[in-house]
Amino acid sequence: MPRKILVTSALPYANGSIHLGHLVEYIQTDIWVRFQKMRGHQCIYCCADDTHGTPIMLRAEKEGITPEQLIDRVWHEHKRDFDGFQVEFDNYYSTNSVETRHYADTIYTRLKEAGLIEIRSIEQYYDPVKEMFLPDRFIKGECPKCHAKDQYGDNCEACGAAYQPTDLIEPYSAVSGAKPVRKSSDHHFFRLSDTRCADFLEGWIQPPHVQTEAANKLNEWLHAGLSDWDISRDAPYFGFEIPDAPGKYYYVWLDAPIGYMGSFQNYCDKNGLDFDEYWKPDSEAELYHFIGKDILYFHALFWPAELAHAGFRTPTGVFCHGFLTVNGTKMSKSRGTFITAESYLNHLNPSFLRYYYAAKLNGSMEDIDLNLEDFAARVNSDLVGKYVNIASRCAGFITKKFAGKLGAIDAAATAEFLTVFENGEIAKSYEDRDYGRALREIMRLADVANQYIAEKQPWAMAKQEGREAELHEVCSTAMTLFRDLTLYLKPVLPKLAEQVEAFLNIPPLAWTDTWAALPAGHAINEYQHLMTRIDPKKIEIMVEENRQSLAPTPAFANTPAPARHAEHQQNEAKAEAAASDEKSAWEPFISIDDFTQVDLRIVRIAHAEHVEGADKLLKLTLDLGGETRTVFAGIKVAYAPETLIGRLTVMVANLSPRKMKFGLSEGMVLAAGDERGGPFLLSPDSGAQPGMRIK
Ligand code: MSP
Ligand code: ZN
Repeated sequence: MPRKILVTSALPYANGSIHLGHLVEYIQTDIWVRFQKMRGHQCIYCCADDTHGTPIMLRAEKEGITPEQLIDRVWHEHKRDFDGFQVEFDNYYSTNSVETRHYADTIYTRLKEAGLIEIRSIEQYYDPVKEMFLPDRFIKGECPKCHAKDQYGDNCEACGAAYQPTDLIEPYSAVSGAKPVRKSSDHHFFRLSDTRCADFLEGWIQPPHVQTEAANKLNEWLHAGLSDWDISRDAPYFGFEIPDAPGKYYYVWLDAPIGYMGSFQNYCDKNGLDFDEYWKPDSEAELYHFIGKDILYFHALFWPAELAHAGFRTPTGVFCHGFLTVNGTKMSKSRGTFITAESYLNHLNPSFLRYYYAAKLNGSMEDIDLNLEDFAARVNSDLVGKYVNIASRCAGFITKKFAGKLGAIDAAATAEFLTVFENGEIAKSYEDRDYGRALREIMRLADVANQYIAEKQPWAMAKQEGREAELHEVCSTAMTLFRDLTLYLKPVLPKLAEQVEAFLNIPPLAWTDTWAALPAGHAINEYQHLMTRIDPKKIEIMVEENRQSLAPTPAFANTPAPARHAEHQQNEAKAEAAASDEKSAWEPFISIDDFTQVDLRIVRIAHAEHVEGADKLLKLTLDLGGETRTVFAGIKVAYAPETLIGRLTVMVANLSPRKMKFGLSEGMVLAAGDERGGPFLLSPDSGAQPGMRIK
């Protein structure tokens, strides 16, 4: 029986670029959806941009455009990135839509009728210059604990303390710099503390609605007592105005999940489907949300509680995943590991990342690590060395010696494949989102196929008279095995599978009930090269391109670094925050020995010039007192090249040379900078000479 399945991924904020962290989620969801479609189920994948809130409003203002213009531009950028990674939504929409507004109003009204909305006056910080209430992340001041300056209103990035904005010493508005005042206003709350909600959630937050590890966390939250949820914000705000409360808007997190409904309604209208069949309380359709662990509270507490009390069905499952680390640590702009989707696509094949993520995903909430060395090694060995190799070693003979037609099959060689087909383990692994397990089994089969070819040595047969029939059989068998591997890999590598379908001259591969070899006499096309190995240099160049150590940070573009902890208070902060940025905390202590490993020298800038095609870089020739070095420095915004020539500054002289797009960079000059300005080059006191060591 074909299942009816509606699947969503979390809606990315419309004020930041898609990066490799996001893609853990979208690639994961896409694989699952493609798998379900290949099984013959009706599976619909809906998503949208999450467009409302203070950060988007302020960012548009700063850019001198309307929020609508901003979200329209970002929508196209996001869509381009998702297309590039072969993430195929059935509908990619926007929360700023009539459909989303309709369901937001419906849910709000029904919750209100159920007595679950309460209006309460609360006191908050208000920016008297900008005339707006300030979300926590837009209030800064001195940390009450460690007295670090310029900390955000919810936690200190220097000492890690969490507190209320009112605890800050000398608070100021990050928007205008003004001293905020306390002001009260009416807010609308969703009464999550009502026993109806707690009773419902008690029963709901169990497997299979959520993973066991998620259930544990949710139970903890539930038993600690749920607080009512503030779902309104005062004007000025970019969002939907609450119908019976002029000047009050739904908080972005209220309408964000409702955006799933909005996107699906829009899909239904375009495709003649019945929305209610999927969303009525007794619906037989399945509903799954893929999300990251930072937004579990919203999806597994607020959201089902809202739906259950507003006359809609609740999700069949919330699939929660962990966070991406790169080379074992948090993605970092200064290390160049905060990699945007766009820049990845400029250098590398999207299939590689899809494969690597799939190999690492297992349906749990553990974080997953993109180790860049392992990435290249894994892709090269599995995809190129094992999988593609089967076709590239055997296909040519079919074309050259047998006019492109397949012959009989070696049944014994397909036995293992048949067993795997019949036991359904690969399908089960996909269904369970344990893609790592699926790929291990697929690669084991690839080994079986390669062993068969290695034993038979078709290349030797081809040189010997009278072994044509044998050669034909081996190569034909290899084509069937290759077809099977392609079928299994297709959810992960859809584009590659399409190329293989064209090469093998077969209809789109689907997960059928019976297994049949490619028949004798079937004509295939000439083999075209399918995939080349990853060149590790390209990874280096990509990392360089994303490295932003010397690039100045424009004052507001990178506002608030959201703390991605799994507590909802921080989620609140996160929602108000702009695109995720790394923290500017102090680096951990190092020993003097660690420090002396850095060879810092005085240099004279002998020459400086613009670099064609580079908007941030200057090319510097540095004189170290005899020896010269070429360095590309991201200081173009702050310095005209001619003003630099002749001056002394400081360089790191023993940094491994880096190959950049524009040439080899043999070190680094040092400069200071943050949101207050920069970069500012360093200068030594007079008397210092080129080549002197700094210690
Ligand atoms: N707009 C909200 C979601 C609203 S859903 C009704 C949001 N947006 S987000 O752009 O910050 O994140 C979108 C999804 O990407 C979330 O599920 C988030 O967990 C995931 N990821 C963002 N960064 C990530 C990593 N570094 N690693 C893995 N997933 C990450 O949250
Ligand atoms: Zn502190």
